[in-house]
Amino acid sequence: MSQAGGTPAAETAARLRAEIEQHNVRYYVYDDPSISDADYDRLMRELQDLEAAHPELVTPESPTQRVGAAPVSAFGSVRHAVPMLSLGNAFDEEDVTAFDRRVTDTLRGAGLLGPAQQTEYFCELKLDGLAISLRYEDGRLVQAATRGDGQTGEDVTSNIRTIKAIPLQLTGPAPKVLEVRGEVLMNRADFEKLNAAQAKRDEKVFVNPRNAAAGSLRQLDPRITAKRPLRFFAYGWGEVQGLPGGQNGLFDEAPAGAAEASPLPEKFHGAMLDWLASLGLPVNVKHNLRATGAEGLMAFYAKVGALRASLPYDIDGVVYKVDSLPAQKLLGFVARAPRFALAHKFPAEEATTTLLDIEVQVGRTGAITPVARLKPVFVGGVTVTNATLHNEDEIRRKDVRIGDTVIVRRAGDVIPEVVSAVLDKRPADAREFVMPKECPVCGSAIERLEDETIARCTGGLFCAAQRKQTLWHAASRKALDIEGLGEKLVEQLVDSGRVKSLADLFSLRPLELVGLDRMGQKSADNLVEAIDKARAPALGRLLFALGIRHVGETTARDVARHFGSIEAIMDADEDALSSVPDVGPVVAGSIRRFFAEQHNRDVIDQLKAQGVQPVAEAVPQDTTLAGKTFVLTGTLPNWTREEASMRIQAAGGKVSGSVSKKTAYLVAGEDAGSKLTKAQELGVTVLDEDALKALLGES
Ligand code: IVH
Repeated sequence: MSQAGGTPAAETAARLRAEIEQHNVRYYVYDDPSISDADYDRLMRELQDLEAAHPELVTPESPTQRVGAAPVSAFGSVRHAVPMLSLGNAFDEEDVTAFDRRVTDTLRGAGLLGPAQQTEYFCELKLDGLAISLRYEDGRLVQAATRGDGQTGEDVTSNIRTIKAIPLQLTGPAPKVLEVRGEVLMNRADFEKLNAAQAKRDEKVFVNPRNAAAGSLRQLDPRITAKRPLRFFAYGWGEVQGLPGGQNGLFDEAPAGAAEASPLPEKFHGAMLDWLASLGLPVNVKHNLRATGAEGLMAFYAKVGALRASLPYDIDGVVYKVDSLPAQKLLGFVARAPRFALAHKFPAEEATTTLLDIEVQVGRTGAITPVARLKPVFVGGVTVTNATLHNEDEIRRKDVRIGDTVIVRRAGDVIPEVVSAVLDKRPADAREFVMPKECPVCGSAIERLEDETIARCTGGLFCAAQRKQTLWHAASRKALDIEGLGEKLVEQLVDSGRVKSLADLFSLRPLELVGLDRMGQKSADNLVEAIDKARAPALGRLLFALGIRHVGETTARDVARHFGSIEAIMDADEDALSSVPDVGPVVAGSIRRFFAEQHNRDVIDQLKAQGVQPVAEAVPQDTTLAGKTFVLTGTLPNWTREEASMRIQAAGGKVSGSVSKKTAYLVAGEDAGSKLTKAQELGVTVLDEDALKALLGES
């Protein structure tokens, strides 16, 4: 380090830098900050002030220097000392077993594996960002380059230096030269936020996080890159020279006597990554895993596939690497890819197809959603023919037209959506979407209030589409919980005119049900029985079942507890409704307007005539915790967070997601993160599971 060490100011600067970089890693790499943003800013300011007073202490590696250098007119080019290769791809199990067989046969033939031994692999996520090579000399970041054509890339050093997850200075004994290879990416949530901000400023929005990451990194003005939330994970290395302990290359033997002092890892890929992590580089330790044989690889693939949708960033597959470095060397390369590694791809989440038409769908509250009718396309593992376009403004913003070639995205079980149009391929006769003036189902006027993004059918329960979805919602588990009353059945009952309102459900007889699609005597009897059981719902469930806008399950229960009867709720004015804790003017207004409609009051009367008699909500008996707000964090030894929440609520307490001055208790388990720090800062009482049990009287 080129620091003027020794003086107290120099020592303070060094300490602050180390501390700040450590927080950067916790925050940007492991999503587990241990201090508040305010405290982080304070440390940063302290360092800035110190450097202002002692300019001779400023080094290029100081975190204060990450703000972004002056813009350039073009990127220079960088020749990679060791080429950046690509990977062979596998798309199914057969490809994977063939890869494992090839590798294992070669290693057995060379005597690196015994005849019955299987190959050990190191498995990683295939991050969907862009490949970067970082060059460290004597532990200092001196150059960063994109992959380019694999031989020569672009010099993006100034931009890379703004990424807080990337250390400017390695920690611990570093080799003379270390080229780190890895992926720069953007988390999905950060991407959404960035796009929202871009749209607001009328600037370019990005199609996906990968394009946003690439666009941000290839900015000629590093000050723009500095504002973009980029992340980085290391998964490999290029040139390595002058390892601590006197070794030159990875495969050289350490000089006698040096081995013990050397922190050089054993000759395994996984151990190398551990070593990179020990130097302060971000490594995806949470998901990397060792596996044995093709079976182990397939198990990793399945595990990551199940996890994919819940990851904060996009991946397009997994990567398998032979763990032993000598084995890697023996296997060597074919064309421009290593024989020792394989990318096993997931079904693509995005695909291109033709937008045939845009139709509208009517939701439960009359919300009109434009739906894209697509030329069938295989995406996210299924064939997709419809995708949502959300609303009219989104169609305009994305400038999507009928006849366009469009990019469709289906991630996990999320409803497929049209992401964007491919403008170069727009046909001359592409048509703009026009919102219909009338509901396609009931013919009522469609209206869009001035400050709303959503257009609505004004038909209310006169509209069969709204009626169907209202009934379906009313029958759902958290409402009246009528088992066996699914979408298809509701459709038939409404289309035949037999069921016009919620009350009509309660007059259904088995005889008239038998003969409907997929309805035998037995299921008809069961359904009528299930309907019968719903005649005495908890008041909150009934209120929720009515499908009043803005009234969710919890609000419905709170209102029910407060008023005690449906009549009292129907007659409450906005002030009375607003006196329920957590009910604001929007919810109060919505409930009042609902019951101001005579036809909605009629439904309540008809329900009563059918013998529907809501029962008062059980008010929690135990009021020890009444009104106290709890926040849960970390893993508790015995209870899941859901269990703990339920018990707290049963005792009259409330559970919230974030710590504030109003929090009474923080229940903290193992691996508690920033919530614990915040609670301690605010002086909130912290409980462990035992203390919570004691408070609940359960110990
Ligand atoms: S290893 C010699 N590991 O995939 C092999 N690549 O298709 C070098 N990628 O250009 C690559 N995650 O951008 C490797 N865990 C991972 C990866 C990964 C994403 C990207 C990388 C590379 C491309 C190859």
